[in-house]
Amino acid sequence: MGKMRTQSAPWRAAAVLASVLLVGGVAACGNSDTGGGGTKDDGKITMGFSQVGAESGWRTANTISIKEAATAAGIELKFDDAQQKQENQIKAIRNYIQQKVDVIAFSPVVESGWDTVLKEAKDAGIPVILTDRSVDSADKSLYKTFLGSDFVKEGKLAGEWLVEQKKTASGPVNIVELQGSTGAAPANDRKKGFAEAIAANPNLKVIASQTGDFTRAGGKQVMEQFLKANPKIDVLFAHNDDMGLGALEAITAAGKVPGKDITIITIDAVKDGMQALADGKFNFIAECSPLLGPQLMDLAKKVKAGQEVPPRIETEETTFTTEQAKEALPNRKY
Ligand code: AHR
Repeated sequence: MGKMRTQSAPWRAAAVLASVLLVGGVAACGNSDTGGGGTKDDGKITMGFSQVGAESGWRTANTISIKEAATAAGIELKFDDAQQKQENQIKAIRNYIQQKVDVIAFSPVVESGWDTVLKEAKDAGIPVILTDRSVDSADKSLYKTFLGSDFVKEGKLAGEWLVEQKKTASGPVNIVELQGSTGAAPANDRKKGFAEAIAANPNLKVIASQTGDFTRAGGKQVMEQFLKANPKIDVLFAHNDDMGLGALEAITAAGKVPGKDITIITIDAVKDGMQALADGKFNFIAECSPLLGPQLMDLAKKVKAGQEVPPRIETEETTFTTEQAKEALPNRKY
């Protein structure tokens, strides 16, 4: 996998440090008050996991990673698909509390509105691990740790690449943005990181920005609207590969050549996205790794054993150009 010069040293150092702490089981910092949750003491661990849904290739790979890792770790997994609805996740978490599972893990559909149910879990003595996405709760004692990507950084890497590509542009560069699901941490953060990065060049302007809900269908539909309303679109920034792939259909149908007439930047680097990049239809991808299962199971074991864990574990990721995608594709796992 090619490493881009855009990846900052502090980011890499933080990720490596987190991995060392995790692998070594060293207690660096973090919460220790709720211990292992300990509702039964048969040595076995039961995890209740609430997944966002099945909206993207990324999500499918993430679900497979979690299920396979649970089996490999000997952890009994209770799995629920929330179909992109917060109320379904809250219901699933309450069920897990009633069932007295040892650990609850979930990837929150949206950032806000979790305090009540997280407090219920804490009061029941069941530790919670956030994976992939975080919550905006002020009370950090409501969960043990957050394992996942730095979404702001992903948006920044996408924006920095564009700034470099367009540094000689003499006139306005019109950008359209396909946002992820409204209220979701990756949608909020990627938008923020990208906006911060492109502020370096006043020629770069986001002329339209709308949610495509992280799905191919959403990406296609919104891109069709963008193309109808805006005669000059130079760049598409899609918050994930799937929306970018949907947009490709709309762009081609409009008689434009993706990757040439419109520069396309996405996030994730799932196989289909990487293929589009290798084929020159996408121009740049910032990676977001879905392979969180093994680290999640390690964390569950530590938490159940009453060990302290770092409060934040950041996923190690990279970026890809077309040449790097061609090189990485044959060994791509998802
Ligand atoms: O939370 C991660 C994001 O959710 C991925 O980038 C996207 O593809 C998924 O739906």
